[in-house]
Amino acid sequence: MYAGGHAEELLGKVIREQHIPREVLFITSKISPEHLRYQDIINSCENSLRRLGIDYLDLYLIHWPVAGMNLEDAFRALNKLVKDGKTRYLGVSNFNLKLLKKSVSLCETPRLTNQVPYSLVDRKYANNGVLEYCQHNDILLTAYSPVKHRKVKNNKIIQEIARSRGVTPMQIAIAWLTTQPRVITIPTSFNPQHQAENLQAADIVLSAEEIALLM
Ligand SMILES: NC(=O)c1ccc[n+]([C@@H]2O[C@H](COP(=O)([O-])OP(=O)(O)OC[C@H]3O[C@@H](n4cnc5c(N)ncnc54)[C@H](OP(=O)(O)O)[C@@H]3O)[C@@H](O)[C@H]2O)c1
Repeated sequence: MYAGGHAEELLGKVIREQHIPREVLFITSKISPEHLRYQDIINSCENSLRRLGIDYLDLYLIHWPVAGMNLEDAFRALNKLVKDGKTRYLGVSNFNLKLLKKSVSLCETPRLTNQVPYSLVDRKYANNGVLEYCQHNDILLTAYSPVKHRKVKNNKIIQEIARSRGVTPMQIAIAWLTTQPRVITIPTSFNPQHQAENLQAADIVLSAEEIALLM
């Protein structure tokens, strides 16, 4: 899905050329929805590792569920990849509560993540029970698209809290996520200043009053 694998080739090139020690990186890759059968998953992982030029992934996700998919079969392959040392952790993405519960029952590694859209302006996965289930079952909810929406920047309450703390509205949007138990987030930025701000935002802990204002 990401440039037909070229994103992985580029990352592999950077790792090699910059001589970055493998153990300081946390590398996630995903399985495309059309590759969810047992042997396709095994092959997809091998191909990702080859393109990246590494021996193991840290996290391997099912990118999107597909209607009628054989989740038992998929997890049989995923569990084998963990046993064979091809990935350390497993996860899913865009899974609703029913599919997430089924994944938990099939996953043989102790931890799991569900990567879903979640932000101040998109609370679908808080409203559909996924967030609460993650928080009660030691599953990480990985919030994607945390700052993408224009509404984050333009919201008056977010702006006010940001001003009072001397930070940006985007940092408040990230801190709102990372202040919540079992929630992590993956903002993307091509701008070094934004990248630094996003990292700093992980250290901001919002107060109960601020959280209430953002309800
Ligand atoms: N699992 C899935 O199905 C799925 C779906 C969508 C996305 N994702 C993943 O989620 C991650 C991010 O999602 P996303 O790119 O959709 O949304 P995002 O990270 O919320 O938004 C990215 C946009 O926000 C801007 N931005 C980031 N930090 C900023 C800051 N501090 N100040 C101002 N602007 C800022 C970026 O512009 P600049 O570059 O100019 O900073 C970019 O235009 C990616 O890793 C992506 O692969 C997963």
